[in-house]
Amino acid sequence: MILTFRRWCWNSCCESRRITPKNKFLPYVVSLVAMKLTVMMLLASNKRGHPQRMGAALTDDSSLAVTAVNAAGEEEMKNRRYWQMLENLEEAEIEGTGTNRTHPSSIWLIYNRVPRCGGLTMVFLMKELAKVNRFAHQRHQYRTPWNRLLIEEEMKNLVTWFEYQHQAKSYDRHFLHVNFTRFQRYTKNLRPTYINIVRDPAEREYSAFRGRRSQDPLQITQEIKRRDAAGAGTGMEWYTKSFDDCILDEDPECAFNSSDYTFSRAIPYFCGQDPRCLVPRSRWALQRAKFIIEHEYSVVGILDKMNETLQVLESYIPRFFAGSSKIYYSRGYGRRHENRYIKSKPALSEKVLAKLRDSLSDEYELYDFCQQRLYHQHQQTINTH
Ligand SMILES: *[C@@H]1O[C@H](CO)[C@@H](O)[C@H](O)[C@H]1NC(C)=O
Ligand SMILES: *[C@@H]1O[C@H](CO)[C@@H](O)[C@H](O)[C@H]1NC(C)=O
Ligand SMILES: *[C@@H]1O[C@H](CO)[C@@H](O)[C@H](O)[C@H]1NC(C)=O
Ligand SMILES: *[C@@H]1O[C@H](CO)[C@@H](O)[C@H](O)[C@H]1NC(C)=O
Repeated sequence: MILTFRRWCWNSCCESRRITPKNKFLPYVVSLVAMKLTVMMLLASNKRGHPQRMGAALTDDSSLAVTAVNAAGEEEMKNRRYWQMLENLEEAEIEGTGTNRTHPSSIWLIYNRVPRCGGLTMVFLMKELAKVNRFAHQRHQYRTPWNRLLIEEEMKNLVTWFEYQHQAKSYDRHFLHVNFTRFQRYTKNLRPTYINIVRDPAEREYSAFRGRRSQDPLQITQEIKRRDAAGAGTGMEWYTKSFDDCILDEDPECAFNSSDYTFSRAIPYFCGQDPRCLVPRSRWALQRAKFIIEHEYSVVGILDKMNETLQVLESYIPRFFAGSSKIYYSRGYGRRHENRYIKSKPALSEKVLAKLRDSLSDEYELYDFCQQRLYHQHQQTINTH
């Protein structure tokens, strides 16, 4: 309401030359009063919740009002920055900080797995943790196809399902980030805890490349047949191709710019369910992914830095992850991961790496962002111990 008024005011002041000097200031006076009211409302509501839309009413000339309310002023400045960033995502400087985003009352843990980033080990860990930390782990059955991009109805159903079974639980599945708040009807004050794990994009792509050639033999045979039908001999050529050749020959499979590739990138998993999140190399999608990570995710771990990741998980989400390092190492998950990892770690030439860094530049920017954030969080855990 206030926002609409401000827009109207702005337009009428700039575009209409017929305003007389006397009521020229009227819109300003009214908007100042509106801002005061906004600040008072914020003070009165006194919620440590999510920044509300009305924060946007405070634009450049609001500094006066802000200094007048000190403590709440700081919170207000944060809200203001939040909305300015969100409205100007492409130019925004988004930094990964150690700010704790876990809500004290949170009983839902959502792990919307980026594929091929060590998710299975994480799920094993979560199932063990469920016993000691008393929550239920709900695995998604991966044999049934389930879209990563959901329609409104599916998102609503997912959230309602959580609301309906009101208990501490964790859930893992490959799907793009869903804003639960949008669909919560009965549990408005409950905020889920979001987590994820990412890894070096080149290693992720190498792992995916190998995965496509070492999956279910029936699927491989089908893929070879499908390719042979389009061009004799191309099936076997695909099957025996090396990753290096795939990159250097600019094979469509390794160009990472087609829509087939959409759901193996990390960016859409954080950017969310907006169709614009699926556009490869979109600056907006990358920036939104960073924004959502910084403001919504409690922890985004790094597969290469599992020790730090576990420490940060334990410290930022104790409700679910207390004791996780101990379980992880006593069960040999670390070894399990390391074995598979060493086997699958690519020895890529400089030439191949350079090409990958170029074609996956946005994915690398996100990865670097996640590293920076995990680093700050890890520093925080060291300092508080
Ligand atoms: C983060 O917040 C959660 C929930 O309030 C709390 O349990 C945890 O100890 C906090 N961790 C840090 C490092 O601040
Ligand atoms: C999530 O949805 C709520 C409710 O519609 C909205 O206020 C909030 O801005 C959304 N969050 C993000 C990060 O878009
Ligand atoms: C993807 O990149 C390749 C190689 O750079 C190029 O030939 C192809 O046209 C691109 N495809 C799309 C859909 O942009
Ligand atoms: C990670 O922690 C485990 C257990 O504390 C330790 O044995 C291992 O050496 C650590 N690894 C790295 C890379 O720091």
